[in-house]
Amino acid sequence: MDSFKPRNILVTGGAGFIGSNFIRHLLSSNSDVVITNLDALTYAGSQLGLVSYADDERYEFVQGSITDSSLITTILSEKQIDTVVHFAAESHVDRSITGPEAFIDTNIVGTFRLLDAARTVWGDNLASRRFLHVSTDEVYGTLSATDPAFTETTPFAPNSPYAASKASSDMLVRSYFHTYSFPVITTNCSNNYGPFQFPEKLIPLMIVNALAGKPLPIYGDGQQVRDWLYVDDHCAAIWRAISTGELGSTYNVGGNNEMPNMDIVHSICDLLDELQPRHDAKSYREQIEFVEDRPGHDRRYAVNADRIANELRWTPSESFATGIRKTVEWYLSNESWLEAIKTGQHQNWIDQNYANRPMTAA
Ligand code: NAD
Ligand code: TYD
Repeated sequence: MDSFKPRNILVTGGAGFIGSNFIRHLLSSNSDVVITNLDALTYAGSQLGLVSYADDERYEFVQGSITDSSLITTILSEKQIDTVVHFAAESHVDRSITGPEAFIDTNIVGTFRLLDAARTVWGDNLASRRFLHVSTDEVYGTLSATDPAFTETTPFAPNSPYAASKASSDMLVRSYFHTYSFPVITTNCSNNYGPFQFPEKLIPLMIVNALAGKPLPIYGDGQQVRDWLYVDDHCAAIWRAISTGELGSTYNVGGNNEMPNMDIVHSICDLLDELQPRHDAKSYREQIEFVEDRPGHDRRYAVNADRIANELRWTPSESFATGIRKTVEWYLSNESWLEAIKTGQHQNWIDQNYANRPMTAA
């Protein structure tokens, strides 16, 4: 199998949950790459998780938006970028219901601007270039309990503004391959969890609320099913797809781990009962509250990841039992990070913990 070797990588959205895990994953395992991290630092972005790389000559942070064509063009040319790994997005379904416009701007217009700037800067020199687009299984819509899992040929049927904006970006990426032979690869992954996830998504929200003595809100009957993947496994899959994926292809990425939301919340409560019991010795399960369902709530996602397993030899290495334990332990031992994230005091946290390592925006 031919192997592509990235040298100068532009990571977009590298201050977010998966992007920052990806950068740590690369810098700790692959010394041959230089990374430029372009991130707008929205509410979901923070440099806290990358502070230890502030002095690393393989890493540079630039604050800015993927909708800014001239900024992207400058970065692509000046840094001689050969590989784009595109994470930047508005990523939360609930926010897309109350405010869809930012999803259109970043996920659709931003992806278009990024693609087009790279096409312009890279010109005909495409054999040694890669554009990896990070997408979601939510583009495929929802499944009944008995439907087979999503494959790469399942028709798109997005149901939330978030999913529709990601499906649109996937379509743009696809069109650049077919129209311009632009060297794209797309990954469609299931729900991620792990360290550094912003506490609005199910797993970190439940951990944070449980510890704060707050209710654990379960939408509807809690029997919606998602496939859950530990974030490091997703990072490894993305790297494998960049290195050995077929141009123009899409790869589903999943944990082969379908679980109803209720079971997820129970397992978090049980781990917290073990690791940090409540003062009254009751279970954290007591804090579970059923709340009104999310509008248009997709019932079930399930991912068939046979293609990436068979063709690129990627399979997840973490089980849900080991991954969720690591995750809960991480949140328990990173309370100051959590506090800074929750209160928006990111810079104060950096100043206090890394006084001599300022990370300034370009
Ligand atoms: P996140 O919300 O944690 O991070 C998104 C990052 O993008 C933030 O740092 C934010 O500041 C940045 N950003 C937002 N708008 C920007 C803009 N206009 N320009 C530059 N940066 C901008 O998201 P995440 O969970 O890390 O998801 C990353 C990618 O993976 C997204 O494309 C998402 O659709 C995809 N994905 C996520 C999951 C999941 O379970 N979290 C699963 C599959 C796919
Ligand atoms: P979420 O983490 O928002 O990811 P997604 O909507 O992209 O799958 O939610 C995961 C599941 O958990 C989803 O079925 C909605 C549900 N959920 C709750 O029941 N309560 C909550 O407070 C949240 C945030 C999500």
